[in-house]
Amino acid sequence: MGKRRIGILTGGGDCPGLNAVIRGVTKTAVNRYGMEVIGFHDGFLGLIENRFTFLTFENVSGILTQGGTILGTSNKANPFAHIMMENGNATVKDVSDGCMELYNDLGLDALITVGGDGTMTISGMLAEKGANVVGVPKTIDKDLMETDTTFGFDTARAVGTEAIDRLHSTAQSHHRVMIVELMGRNAGWLALESGIAGGGDIILIPEIPYDIEEIMRVVRQRSRFGKRFSIVVIAEGASEIGGDQVVKKVVEDSPEKIRLGGIGSQLAAQLEEATQIECRVAILGHLQRGGTPTPQDRILATQFAVKAMDLVMDGQFNQMVAIRGNDLIAVPLEKVMGKQKLVPIDSPLIEAGLSVGTSFGIKME
Ligand code: F6P
Repeated sequence: MGKRRIGILTGGGDCPGLNAVIRGVTKTAVNRYGMEVIGFHDGFLGLIENRFTFLTFENVSGILTQGGTILGTSNKANPFAHIMMENGNATVKDVSDGCMELYNDLGLDALITVGGDGTMTISGMLAEKGANVVGVPKTIDKDLMETDTTFGFDTARAVGTEAIDRLHSTAQSHHRVMIVELMGRNAGWLALESGIAGGGDIILIPEIPYDIEEIMRVVRQRSRFGKRFSIVVIAEGASEIGGDQVVKKVVEDSPEKIRLGGIGSQLAAQLEEATQIECRVAILGHLQRGGTPTPQDRILATQFAVKAMDLVMDGQFNQMVAIRGNDLIAVPLEKVMGKQKLVPIDSPLIEAGLSVGTSFGIKME
């Protein structure tokens, strides 16, 4: 029998810690189990187009601290709905059989897929076709079900917190309302936790549609009490009661087509007009996804990698690794597929914010 061989790919939007997983999987597979590791380029696109590289001790050495992914990624590639050009026209094809053929031809014992909800959904579908898949959860949005957290989130939260810290002094000097817009898609975790860590005066998240009148009241009240500035932390997915999310872009060839962004500028215009207090907006955007991972994200990514290899060696497939409390566990992919973990209204984080006087943009007890 030849050497056992596994594949790994990173799918969806990048985030800090992906390289730590690639390193953790490769070193564990090679070092502990004497396996070969194949890294597919650009997420599922590498599996579709037969593009990969052999990962060795040498090429994963020194990548622990690097942001992004050395393998590349794609948040468009989907073997079950692959967009191809035929006679000048874009057509959507299911090329998953071809992916399974490559999986078998390469003699893979398992495929480790590192990604968010989209990647986990595709992974579950490949598992149904017979691939031995183990998923590893990543995302700065922390919106994956069945796991307390995902790597990438801690780094993005640190970036968000630092931005809020920095905006305080300029807001104070100019007596302005500074609005900082954070990513997170439909989930408010990133804005909520960065906002609490940075002492945001008003935190607006998708799960709690806001009342513009209440925001104006809070800003004016702060002014009356001698606080002539306010910091508003707003998630890109937030919206006014009865209003819609602000769509920045529609990416037609992506499974998740909507890109959010711009709600902060909309709010600034409304607030400035109504209160006559100057407002400025800072949109953090992809800054939250870049750079070196925090120690916590490096540790979590490494633990996830080792746990994923444990599952491969135990033959526990069609699972995603997860963390609950201090325990690393495995959860069936079907429990994660097509779901989003949103902030519950009774979250202790909201309770803590309310206790210290944070407004969530509506009247709350
Ligand atoms: O899911 C991660 C994320 O950064 C979201 O917070 C954001 O809405 C989206 O990806 C941005 O996607 P893109 O990189 O395609 O602009």
